[in-house]
Amino acid sequence: MNPVTAWHEEHAYFGRLLNVLQEEVDSLYAGQSPNYELVLDIVAYLRDYSDQVHHPREDEAFRRLARRSPELRPTIARLQQEHRVIAQSGDRLRQLVEEAAADAVVPRADIEAAAATYIVYYRGHIATEEQEILPAAARELTEEDWTIARNAAPSRGNPLVGEGADERFRHLRRRIAAEAGYAPRTLQASPSAWRALTWRPDGT
Ligand SMILES: [Fe+2]
Ligand SMILES: [Fe+2]
Repeated sequence: MNPVTAWHEEHAYFGRLLNVLQEEVDSLYAGQSPNYELVLDIVAYLRDYSDQVHHPREDEAFRRLARRSPELRPTIARLQQEHRVIAQSGDRLRQLVEEAAADAVVPRADIEAAAATYIVYYRGHIATEEQEILPAAARELTEEDWTIARNAAPSRGNPLVGEGADERFRHLRRRIAAEAGYAPRTLQASPSAWRALTWRPDGT
């Protein structure tokens, strides 16, 4: 699969995770208790996979793109900073939800604020990458650039899908499948890190 297509599909997948997270947070507004386990699974997934695999690869692609497209440097600098903010705000949200799940007294407003900040920030980040970075990367980056970018992070598979899927995320996988209207089936085991990263909704 084309690396830009793979990149875009990962964003679409993260977007679905954020939709589920939003639905769970909405239950707080409705005075109900969210499914804390599900919320923790989403945040853990985004911390462990997106922050440790997706973002380091992007950082390398950004560095190479910045050399080719100087006009994008301010945007790229902001996006790189946002990777750090997303990681920190994810930690904060995870900490609060873990406390709430363990029956500690956590003000509802604290969880709402942390979750809302995380979701809005993350969505804005992805939207900027989709609109301003991916088209330029498709034009400017070479095969060598993509190879170096994918080697910037471990080539482990997506823990939510495929044969190596983590049992911990069983409930989340079901929920995502229900959201998307189809069952997640694949990432193919592949020596190609990009293909290992690729979310393939058609199951090919
Ligand atoms: Fe990013
Ligand atoms: Fe991204």
